[in-house]
Amino acid sequence: MLKDRYGNSLTTESDAARDAYIDGVDKFLSGNAGSEEAFRRAVEADPNLAVAHVGIARYRILMADRPGAAAAIQDARNATGQSEREVSHTEAFGRLIDGDGPGGYKAIRAHVVEYPRDVMIAQTCTSVFGLIGFSGREGREAEQLAYTTYIAPDYGDDWWFLGQHAFAQAEVGQLELARENIERALEAYPRNGHNAHINAHIFYEEGNNDAGFDYLREWYVDYDDNAYLHCHISWHVALWTAAAGDMDTAWRLLEEGCSPENSKGPGLNILTDTVSFLHRAQLSGIDVPAERWKRISDFAAETFPRAGLAFADVHSGLAHAMAGNAEAFAALTKEAKGPAAEIVAPTWAGFKAFAEGDWAAAERELGPAMAGHERLGGSNAQRDLLEFTLAEAIRKQGRAAEADRLIAMRRPRQQELAAA
Ligand SMILES: [Fe+2]
Repeated sequence: MLKDRYGNSLTTESDAARDAYIDGVDKFLSGNAGSEEAFRRAVEADPNLAVAHVGIARYRILMADRPGAAAAIQDARNATGQSEREVSHTEAFGRLIDGDGPGGYKAIRAHVVEYPRDVMIAQTCTSVFGLIGFSGREGREAEQLAYTTYIAPDYGDDWWFLGQHAFAQAEVGQLELARENIERALEAYPRNGHNAHINAHIFYEEGNNDAGFDYLREWYVDYDDNAYLHCHISWHVALWTAAAGDMDTAWRLLEEGCSPENSKGPGLNILTDTVSFLHRAQLSGIDVPAERWKRISDFAAETFPRAGLAFADVHSGLAHAMAGNAEAFAALTKEAKGPAAEIVAPTWAGFKAFAEGDWAAAERELGPAMAGHERLGGSNAQRDLLEFTLAEAIRKQGRAAEADRLIAMRRPRQQELAAA
C-alpha cells in the first residue's frame, strides 16, 4: 500500500499519483507555487485518488472559486474503492464546500481525532485565516493554541506543524517558545512561505522590526509571485519598507504584490492587505492619493459586496469610508452578519467617523470593538489597524499622551510602528 509523507495509506497503485500528491501537499503546506498543478498531475495519473481531488478543491476555495471547488469535491465523491479515511477526508471538507459550515467543522474535528496525521484536514483548523481563526468565537487565539498543542504529539518535529504551533504561540504572546519552534521549522525547510511569514510575525510581535525587515526582504526576493502568500508577504515587506522611510519602494511592492491588477493571490488578501497598507500609511502621515482608495473600494464592492466574513467586512467598510463611496458603504453595512457581527458593527461606525474626521465619534464607536477584536479574525499585526486608528483618533483630539499610553498598554512592542 502506498503512503503519503505523513504515513496515510493512499488508495492507488500509481507511484506517479502518489508522488504528485505528496508534492502538492508539500507545496500547499509550505505556501509555495504549484500545489494545484501537482494535485492535477496526481488525478491525471489516477482519477480515483480522491484526496488529490480534495487538494484541488482546497486550492480553488482559497482562490474564492466555489464552483471549481464544488466540481473537485464531486470528482472526489465519484472516486471508487476509497478507504474509510479517504471517504471521511472527502466528506469532512466536502461539507464545508456544500455550505454546511458548522457540520463541516464538526466532521473535521472528529476526523482529526481519528486520523490526526491526515495533515490536509488537520491544517484547516490552523493559522489566523483557518476555521478557528475565522470562527468569530471569543478566545479563539487560546483555542488555536489548544488545538496545535493537542496535535503536537502526532507531529513531533514536522516543519509544517512547528510553524503553525509557533504562530499560535506568538499570537498569545508566548514569544520565546514561538521563536524556538519557528527556527527549528525553518532549519528543516527554509524555503517555506508560511514559515517565513510566521517568522516575520514573531519578529513583529517581538518589536524586532529591523531584524524582521532584514530577514523577510532577503527571503522574499526569490519568492514566486504565483504563490498564494506572495501578496500577503509583500504587505509585510511593504509595511517595514514604509516604516524605514522608503516610500517609492513601498508603493512599488504594494502595486506589484497586492493590487487587484497585478496580484495572483486570493481576493481576501488583495483587499485586506491593500486597505491596511493605505490606512496605516495615512495614519503615519503619508499622503495617500484618493485614487488608491477608490480602486480598492471598487474592488471590495465587486468582490465582497455583501457582509458575512468579518475580516473582509471591516476592511471593505474602511475602504468605502475612506474613498467616500457612500453607496457601497451603505450596501455593505446594512446589517452586520456572522458570529462576530457585534464587533463588526462598531468597527464600521468607528471607521466611518474616522474617515469623516469626527475623532470623538471614532473613539466612541471603536471602543466596544477593542475588547474583542480577535473575533474579527486575522493576526494581531493585522488588527493593529484598529489599535492605531483608535490611538490616532485620540491624538487628533489633542490627547497625545493618552494615545501613547493606550499603545503602551495594549501593544507595548509596537510603539515604534504606531508612531512612525
Ligand atoms: Fe501576516
